[in-house]
Amino acid sequence: MAHRLEGRRIVLGVSGGIAAYKAVDLCRRLVDAGAFVSPVLTEAATRFVGALTFSALASERARTSLYSDPDPIPHTTLGRAADLIVVAPATARVIGAMAHGISDDLLTATLLATAAPVVVCPAMHTEMWEHEATQDNIALLRSRGVIVVDPTSGRLAGGDSGSGRMAEPADIVAAIEAFTGPKDLEGVRVLVTAGGTREPIDAVRVITNRSSGKQGTELALEAASRGAKVTLVTTARQPVHPGIDVVRVETAFEMQGAVLPRAPGAEVVIMAAAVADQRVARPSARKTKKTSAPTSIELVPTHDFLVDLGRSKSPSQVLVGFAAETDDVEANARAKLASKGLDLIVANDVGAPGSGFDHDTNQVLILGADGSRREVALASKREIAAAVLDSVTACRDQIARGGPHPDGKETSTDS
Ligand code: CTP
Repeated sequence: MAHRLEGRRIVLGVSGGIAAYKAVDLCRRLVDAGAFVSPVLTEAATRFVGALTFSALASERARTSLYSDPDPIPHTTLGRAADLIVVAPATARVIGAMAHGISDDLLTATLLATAAPVVVCPAMHTEMWEHEATQDNIALLRSRGVIVVDPTSGRLAGGDSGSGRMAEPADIVAAIEAFTGPKDLEGVRVLVTAGGTREPIDAVRVITNRSSGKQGTELALEAASRGAKVTLVTTARQPVHPGIDVVRVETAFEMQGAVLPRAPGAEVVIMAAAVADQRVARPSARKTKKTSAPTSIELVPTHDFLVDLGRSKSPSQVLVGFAAETDDVEANARAKLASKGLDLIVANDVGAPGSGFDHDTNQVLILGADGSRREVALASKREIAAAVLDSVTACRDQIARGGPHPDGKETSTDS
């Protein structure tokens, strides 16, 4: 357990509250767990604990300012390099700044300049914690995927007692470890697709679907955090971790053109994208005027390139498809698993509450060609990604053992 954070680059953000003294212990524990810890203290934090204390315990010296650093842009350097940022203690001010994109010191600027996962450990007086403004800000952060380690009840500064006390350092480390997956994809080449394709009607209009690309992006992030070399082919605009090779595409045809040449070089291919089944036969290169707009549009089928991937894959490659369904979820997913030659299919009931398109949460059924079946209850898309990758590694282990390949073929490990 102590080595689950081995080699992870963690920025430890410390803001100005009495719980800053507990962040010293947290810093030591993270270093002991194998992480490379870069402390960033707000000006107020330094009034509670000296930067020197953190410098002595962390993996590198503590930083306290945007302007006194030898690096002219320390916030982007830190934000880009981080595998994770943990803010402990997080005061009401820092939580508010994060929620509203305010970046008036090194810590808040780093938080705005990162695509890494963020863990927030609030600490403040009960009245401040329970205030609607704080609760709204926390809800906003959660909706963006920030992990909040809830404060507990107990003694507060000034002899008061109540909720708002920062979680204990050991519990924060446990939360980080639970969230940070194992490094079981070290060096493995993983190709992920994400988002709904956009098929042009004319120069300004498109036919698309409601896929946001969040699930595919979370899969890419989770794979990267497990040590994989990830390529993400995506239609989504959201920023991703700089360690991930991103190929931005729009149409099904462009996605096919990006995926097919790259797939043979990948040991794992995950097709999370919602690829259009039809495209417009003759899109106009110019904007169609209202007066001459057609009343019907001719559609032609796109090519289902997941079928190509299933046919041409090597026995050692793990191929994962997604099935977005509203009816007969399991039966439809099973049919796609077999007809597309997949090792795994992730079935998604997009009609279920809190699940599928446009949500930050999802619930899925993971079916394997070997007959395995795993239901994953409603959870964040990051947690769903972790469950999918657990199934992928189980499949890889089975192939490596030379056991019966999930699709019944003889296996080899000739990657
Ligand atoms: N897929 C693909 N190319 C297409 C259509 C789909 O590679 N032209 C892939 C998707 O990325 C997904 C899987 O096939 O991994 C299943 O997609 P889905 O839309 O659920 O099913 P379809 O095969 O398109 O069938 P239907 O729309 O009838 O459910």
